[in-house]
Amino acid sequence: MSLSTILGIESSCDDTAAAILCNGKILANITATQTVHAQYGGVVPELASRAHQSNIIPVIEMALAKAHITMDELSAVAVTQGPGLMGSLLVGLNVAKGLCIAKDLPLIGVNHLQAHIAALFIDRDVSLPMLCLLVSGGHTQIVYVTTPMTMEIIGSTCDDAAGEAFDKGAKLMGLPYPGGPFIDQHAKNGNPLAFGFPDSQTKEFDFSFSGIKTSLLYFLQKHIASDPLFLETHLPDVCASYQRQIIMSLLKRFEKAIQRFKPVSIGLTGGVSANSELRQKFLVLEQKYAITAIIPELEFCTDNAAMVAMAGYHQYLNRDFTSLCALPYNRVKQS
Ligand SMILES: Nc1ncnc2c1ncn2[C@@H]1O[C@H](COP(=O)(O)OP(=O)(O)OP(=O)(O)O)[C@@H](O)[C@H]1O
Ligand SMILES: [Mg+2]
Repeated sequence: MSLSTILGIESSCDDTAAAILCNGKILANITATQTVHAQYGGVVPELASRAHQSNIIPVIEMALAKAHITMDELSAVAVTQGPGLMGSLLVGLNVAKGLCIAKDLPLIGVNHLQAHIAALFIDRDVSLPMLCLLVSGGHTQIVYVTTPMTMEIIGSTCDDAAGEAFDKGAKLMGLPYPGGPFIDQHAKNGNPLAFGFPDSQTKEFDFSFSGIKTSLLYFLQKHIASDPLFLETHLPDVCASYQRQIIMSLLKRFEKAIQRFKPVSIGLTGGVSANSELRQKFLVLEQKYAITAIIPELEFCTDNAAMVAMAGYHQYLNRDFTSLCALPYNRVKQS
């Protein structure tokens, strides 16, 4: 295996992050999460770009310092090229290009979703093929992974992502943004069988989460009309029941895919993989199907640069470099 030290940069949404990966091992993983968006209940793209501009150089310097690495020791710079917010991607990509030009390094443009999958390869050997449930703020997919660089999307959401179902549901319940972690916390004190929410009809491995959010809206309107304090008294039960249905929708399709594709291992990744109930239920599949189940450490679930560096490392080994003229992209590009 060739010697390599890779700087990973992530700026696709509202986290500015840098990581150093040396010969496949993470030496530093720094993330500056932007708090400015909380007051708006969602990410404001222009504010995100500006915050990336302020944060990106300090975050890279912190990562280099933590790893005890200088710019001169780098072998390549890996950066999220897409999909994501255009202005946010431009900040990371242009900083990466500048560093590559200044230090004569190869640029590695990384697909953000492949990076979420690369998080599964951090600090472990993965037996392939792996069936991966990718659940993030903007995407929900079942991906069949044959090598760290070769993957096929088996199913995806027709409308909202699982993360959006959590965030939009949380907003309806008056919880802060991003709502996923708050629903997770409240659900721990609630009864998941207290209320029922419907699953959507979809093609076999596809998902749909816009219906459950609308059913939560009508459910809350109905109950609050007859009891204005309904949410104050029933919040944990509503969170637990709503979360249960999202997880059931995810795992029902994923289990069908396990039975069809018979992978050697299964992986759970993306921001929603931080959900405690989902993690627990996913691990149950390990025994049920006598299969290896992999879930990244919490710091590698939501957006981070370690996963970008890891995806970049796989590309580096394949000499899969990117032109310095490359532009960010917003379409899902995954092969
Ligand atoms: N404990 C949790 N339970 C449920 N959802 C969670 C939890 N922690 C984070 N999330 C959700 O994860 C999402 C953020 O994940 P991530 O950072 O991967 O998304 P993104 O990068 O914005 O989207 P994408 O990766 O699709 O471009 C948010 O929707 C957030 O609510
Ligand atoms: Mg993400």
